[in-house]
Amino acid sequence: MHDRMPGRPSAHAALAFYDDQHPPAGDFLADVLEGFSRTPKQLAPVYFYDATGSAIFDEITDLPEYYVTRTELDILDRIGPELSGLAGPGAVVIEPGSGSSVKIRKLLDALSEPAAYVGLDISGTHLEAACQEIAADYPALQVGAICADFTQGLDLSQLQLESGRRIIFFPGSTIGNFEPEGARQLLAGFRDALRPGDAVLIGADRVKNTDTLVAAYDDAQGVTARFNLNLVDRINRELDGTIDPSGLSHKAIWNAEKARIEMHLVADHAQRFHVAGREFELREGESIHTENSHKFTPESFTSLAESVGFDVLHSWSDAADLFSLHWLEPAAKA
Ligand code: TRP
Repeated sequence: MHDRMPGRPSAHAALAFYDDQHPPAGDFLADVLEGFSRTPKQLAPVYFYDATGSAIFDEITDLPEYYVTRTELDILDRIGPELSGLAGPGAVVIEPGSGSSVKIRKLLDALSEPAAYVGLDISGTHLEAACQEIAADYPALQVGAICADFTQGLDLSQLQLESGRRIIFFPGSTIGNFEPEGARQLLAGFRDALRPGDAVLIGADRVKNTDTLVAAYDDAQGVTARFNLNLVDRINRELDGTIDPSGLSHKAIWNAEKARIEMHLVADHAQRFHVAGREFELREGESIHTENSHKFTPESFTSLAESVGFDVLHSWSDAADLFSLHWLEPAAKA
C-alpha cells in the first residue's frame, strides 16, 4: 500500500515530476449523441475503459484466441538483449497510454541502466497509480508523469531529466485502433517529440488468415462480447439510457479492403431507446460500430512510418508471423 497524503504535491512525492497539461475531459454524453446521430451509428472506443471495461480487457489478454498480448510478450523476452544494445545505457523511456505494466517491466528489465521512465496518460488517477508502482519497484529510476492527451502531440519540453536517449514505447498494436489518418498524426506527433538518435519501439499486429483474426475478437467464452456490451451498460447507467442489451449481438468482421477487424453491436430486432431524453431507433440488423483494429503487413507498416519521417531500422516477429515489434528512428532530414 502506498501512503496517500491529501493534496497534489505530497501525492506525487515519489515521482521526479508531475506535469499536468490539463487535457480536456471527454464529453461522454455529447459523443454518444453525436455517434448515434450518424449513419452508420458509431461509438468512440475511448469509452470502453471504465473500471469494468478495463477489468474485462485484462481477461481478453488471457484468452486462448487472443494471441496478441502473449505473442508480443514472447517477442519482447526474446529481443531484450538486442534492445539493450540499441538503446544503450541511460535511456529515457516514455510510455504514452501508460498502464501496460507487464510489458514496460520487461523493457525496463532488458535495458542496461535506464535513467528514467515517463508515463503519459489522459487519466490522472490511472497515470499516477501506474507511475507510483514503477517508482516503488525501480528505486534507481527517475519516474515522471505527464497528464496529457497523447493523440494531440507530445509536449516533452517540461522533461526535467538529463538528456539520455529517448525511447517512446507504444505496444499492444494500439496504433491499429486509429484510422489511417489518425495513426499518421499520432506517429508524426511522436516524431516531432524526438531528436536524432531517439527511437520508437512500437507493436503492430499483422494481417493473417481471417479465422484467426475473427476468433481473437469473438472468443468462444464471450469475453470480448461482454467487453463490447459494457459500453451499452455504461450508456444505460451513466447517461440515462434505455437500450436493451439482450437485443444486441456482438460481431467481429474482417474488412479486407481496409485491412481491419471491425467490432459491431448488431440489433437482433428493431428497438427504440432513449439516451438522456433523446430518442433513437435501431432497425433489425442495424449495427453500432464500436471499434476498429487495423492489421499491418511489413510493407504497409513501413509505408505508414516512412510517410511521417521515420526509418524502420529493425523489425521482429514471432515464428508464425502473428505480430511484429518495430524500432523506428527519425529519418535524417534531406
Ligand atoms: N489494440 C489491441 C487490439 O486491437 C487491443 C484492443 C483494443 C482490443 N480494443 C480492443 C482487443 C477491443 C479486443 C477488443 O487488438
